[in-house]
Amino acid sequence: MRNWNDDPFTKKARAENYEARSVYKLEEIDRREKILNGAKLILDLGAAPGSWTQYCLKKLPRVRILAVDLSPLNVKDARITFLQKPIEEVKFEEALGAERPDLVLSDMAPKTSGIHERDVALSFELASLALNVALQWLKPGGHFVAKLFMGDSFEEYDRALRQHFSEVKRLRPESTRKHSREIFFIGKGLKGTHFLLGIPKGSGYPSE
Ligand SMILES: C[S@@+](CC[C@H](N)C(=O)[O-])C[C@H]1O[C@@H](n2cnc3c(N)ncnc32)[C@H](O)[C@@H]1O
Repeated sequence: MRNWNDDPFTKKARAENYEARSVYKLEEIDRREKILNGAKLILDLGAAPGSWTQYCLKKLPRVRILAVDLSPLNVKDARITFLQKPIEEVKFEEALGAERPDLVLSDMAPKTSGIHERDVALSFELASLALNVALQWLKPGGHFVAKLFMGDSFEEYDRALRQHFSEVKRLRPESTRKHSREIFFIGKGLKGTHFLLGIPKGSGYPSE
């Protein structure tokens, strides 16, 4: 619904036919960190109503996107496969087959209750689910973006990312609303050997 006091980013999104003002967060992350460059397959978690998906399609004409959300996606395009379900119920092995995304994005956010600790905990849970998906499915060298509400679990999340990505950044885009406690973590270059580290000695793995 149009509102007389819409902020400049909401107005800009409407003028540029984007589904949500969130698009300018991804635009800034991409402008500063170049995460989309050359991506052929992108996993967009928490994709509805669809502005991040729109941005990826516009920037990368040949990209394919696997989008997931509880709510409907308002964007239709032959390059999108949309699964309307909670991330917890997605069977990625069926959805991806032998393919691996170059980029995993998560803008997932819980419905805020106003109870700070609860909202932070739920946001951490969603960001952790997204990280697990990235660690399991992302191509080695691939990039990861996740939104998190600032709170106690912040440093723990940062440590987990540093273990698995060559470079980790935190970014609070200019278009983030002033009162919002959200921040974006960017993991660049998934270390290709992380899954080998868990191989027990004596397993016969050739490098032993
Ligand atoms: C801020 S919105 C995403 C906006 C989107 N990036 C865009 O640009 O249009 C957060 C989304 O996370 C979704 N979400 C929350 N919990 C989820 C879950 N467990 N599984 C999948 N999506 C979830 C919500 O339904 C909501 O659409």
